[in-house]
Amino acid sequence: MSYTIEPLDAQVHVRDKFINQHGSLQNYIRSIARQDMDRDLARCFVLVDDDKVIEGYYTLNNLSIPSSHWDVAFRKKNKLTYQAIPCTLIGRLAMDSSMQGKGYGEILLFDSLKRAYEVSKTIASFAVVVDSIDQAAKDFYKKYEFHELMDTDRLYLPMKTIHSLISY
Ligand SMILES: CC(C)(COP(=O)(O)OP(=O)(O)OC[C@H]1O[C@@H](n2cnc3c(N)ncnc32)[C@H](O)[C@@H]1OP(=O)(O)O)[C@@H](O)C(=O)NCCC(=O)NCCS
Repeated sequence: MSYTIEPLDAQVHVRDKFINQHGSLQNYIRSIARQDMDRDLARCFVLVDDDKVIEGYYTLNNLSIPSSHWDVAFRKKNKLTYQAIPCTLIGRLAMDSSMQGKGYGEILLFDSLKRAYEVSKTIASFAVVVDSIDQAAKDFYKKYEFHELMDTDRLYLPMKTIHSLISY
């Protein structure tokens, strides 16, 4: 079986077999992702097998983060003088339960980071921000050098770090 990552296409991809321990993440790809795509609220990319069955997915969109979520020293060092900082959000990232622990989550994460970096060459983005659904998700992202944003359940990875991660 081989796998590819493609923009979600509800006409082609099989959505209703996707299972995840988090009902909200399971429901999102089955019922909501296509609507968000249609309304230009999120872009969804899916990891599919040869039969176009969705085995994993992530979403990307833009957001701005108040600079107060970074501590003063970080703001000073990075010259974050604006009140709001442009970022890219990975709102959701999930693998089918049967496919977890095989390295595909990491592949999806790096695909999303690479995509975010490429877009940031045209539309500036200081960092990729992730929403973490629970502590396990936080632990997953921290493994890849994401840091916690103050006063939120979100984590971030500066675009400069992403550039260095994907350029070797
Ligand atoms: C998080 C998730 C996407 C990871 O996908 P996956 O395919 O299971 O992860 P991988 O097999 O690619 O693991 C990559 C690495 O991350 C590690 N890892 C995976 N889950 C982890 C966790 N919860 N905490 C710490 N490390 C974790 C793995 O051990 C592996 O490290 P290794 O290469 O050193 O062994 C998947 O488990 C999932 O769908 N979880 C539920 C939804 C979720 O939490 N989504 C993220 C936020 S919304």
